[in-house]
Amino acid sequence: MKIAFIGDLHGNYVATQAMEKELRRIGVEDIWFLGDAVGKGPQNAQTCDWVRANCTVCIGGNWDYGIGGKEFAEDGYFWDQLGPERMEWLRTLPSETDCWISGVHFRLFHGRPVTPLISVQEDKAVFAEAFRANGETYTGIIFADSHRPFVRTLNDGYALNTGSVGNSMGVPKAHCLIIDGELGSREPGVLTMTILSVPYDNEAAAALARQDEKLPHRESFITEVLTGVYSR
Ligand SMILES: [Fe+2]
Repeated sequence: MKIAFIGDLHGNYVATQAMEKELRRIGVEDIWFLGDAVGKGPQNAQTCDWVRANCTVCIGGNWDYGIGGKEFAEDGYFWDQLGPERMEWLRTLPSETDCWISGVHFRLFHGRPVTPLISVQEDKAVFAEAFRANGETYTGIIFADSHRPFVRTLNDGYALNTGSVGNSMGVPKAHCLIIDGELGSREPGVLTMTILSVPYDNEAAAALARQDEKLPHRESFITEVLTGVYSR
């Protein structure tokens, strides 16, 4: 069974649609969302609705909670786009879950606020902590938040990052993680872990932001979408 794990869409509906097209083409059975549907980009209602319509499992990210819970006054633009019903959905998303795939017990979370921001080059001790939670010792973690996809093998197990659909750092394409394995099986079996890299119309995504004068930190988002260089 092929499952796509996606995160950090960040209101970039152009990138989201490109990713959806590719996920349909390769025939994934399930799409699991690991947080940050909204914030940063200009098409938040569409992106949030897409997640709700297409993802079987949904986990909240720091931006979903921050915007959904009205934590920061400067996010008023996003509140106006989303409205109270979507914000309530975002605010009340679970912060983590778990699953077994081909004998690996995965812990799934976004990153912040469950853990600190974990980048690919983070010290092993930081990863080790993320494998131990809820009275469990997991043998895999799947998360997002760093906006860069990666697969690491550690003594604790697999550390897998979805990368970002709509706000990739490094290579500014839409990324996600595909796992092919036996969902729900505690028996050791073959697992394939793949980073999917999907080109999209970055110019079109930047143009939408450019047209929207009220988008907070608009120039940073445009630069990030076009170059993959963090700009805030
Ligand atoms: Fe994010």
